Amino acid sequence: MNNAGKINVTKTYFPPIEDYISYLRKIWANGWITNHGPLVIELEKKLKKFLGVKHLFLVSNGTIALEIALKALDISEEIITTPFSYVATISSIAWINCKPVFVDIDPDSLCINPSLIAEKVTNKTEAILATHVYGSPCNLEYLENIVQKYNLKLIYDASHCFGVKYKGESILNYGDISTLSFHATKLFHMAEGGAVITNDDDIAHKISYLRNFGHRGQEDFWGLGINGKNSELHAAMGLCVLPNIMSIICYRKKASLEYDKCLKDTKLEHIKINNDTEYNYSYYPVIFESEEQLLKTRCALNDNNIYPRRYFYPSLDKLNYINKYEVPVADNISKRIMCLPLYHCLSITDVKNISKIIISSLV
Ligand SMILES: Cc1ncc(COP(=O)(O)O)c(C=O)c1O
Repeated sequence: MNNAGKINVTKTYFPPIEDYISYLRKIWANGWITNHGPLVIELEKKLKKFLGVKHLFLVSNGTIALEIALKALDISEEIITTPFSYVATISSIAWINCKPVFVDIDPDSLCINPSLIAEKVTNKTEAILATHVYGSPCNLEYLENIVQKYNLKLIYDASHCFGVKYKGESILNYGDISTLSFHATKLFHMAEGGAVITNDDDIAHKISYLRNFGHRGQEDFWGLGINGKNSELHAAMGLCVLPNIMSIICYRKKASLEYDKCLKDTKLEHIKINNDTEYNYSYYPVIFESEEQLLKTRCALNDNNIYPRRYFYPSLDKLNYINKYEVPVADNISKRIMCLPLYHCLSITDVKNISKIIISSLV
């Protein structure tokens, strides 16, 4: 165990500093630091290729990506969504004065339960905003059928999905729009950043204006927009992280498989990821038998300078700006789920020791 250092749920990947410095030299030479500079363009191009998507727009973070997605689809009333996600999924809906309508989650994938959606559709429902929780795909086919039947838009909060494939294809190619977060805690990051992805040329056209104040030229405006741009300094970080992403994912897979091995004889439950998925190992969540057990285990880990995270807790129907909803599965799971430390340099010895502490706290 690395007793000298605290073990957090995650640790930001810092690329070799020389790589970043060489990009800084380019920025200085270009004399261009923001407003859709050459490094932002280069990163967008590389990400489109790496992820296998048609249109990808870098923006300043994953929250603004969601807000731009909602605006690009002209959403203004009710949106059916999940209570089991990060708060930004819901705050972005409320922020643009729309109403999030919660549907409970599926106990296996932990994503929105499509079989409960129909009963929540009203004449004000315009869209579904579903999160691929921890990179575990939503029921894509079922959701596609529902949006077709009720003529709704479909947005995926794919913040956890960098590199995830479903049936051999990027998961980002489903729905009308997908969004990503490139925050420092994410698998692929640019310190702060995000992206809006679509295959639709018209939607893409709108997004290009929406993220840049609505500018259609220096003195001409297409319509309402916001400042969603990202800078050359952030793009430089992304360009340094990207070449290392496959080895980061590989390492996380190795650590996850070690957790699987160490914890296999416990009563801890795991998220059930669809078999057609090529997973990215972005999180290692475990589900305890009870909240009491979770709290006891967290205490034992904290005593050893290890800090897992109750991610996501509480379920989002508890937010004080949201109407009350009955979402018993989300409520129950959010009390019992915790993400264990998982990052590119977490040693296998650490994984074994974390598991040992968990096992002894469970007896
Ligand atoms: C599911 C989900 N949605 C949205 C966000 C917001 O992304 P950002 O922090 O880049 O604004 C996050 C980030 O933590 C997230 O996990």
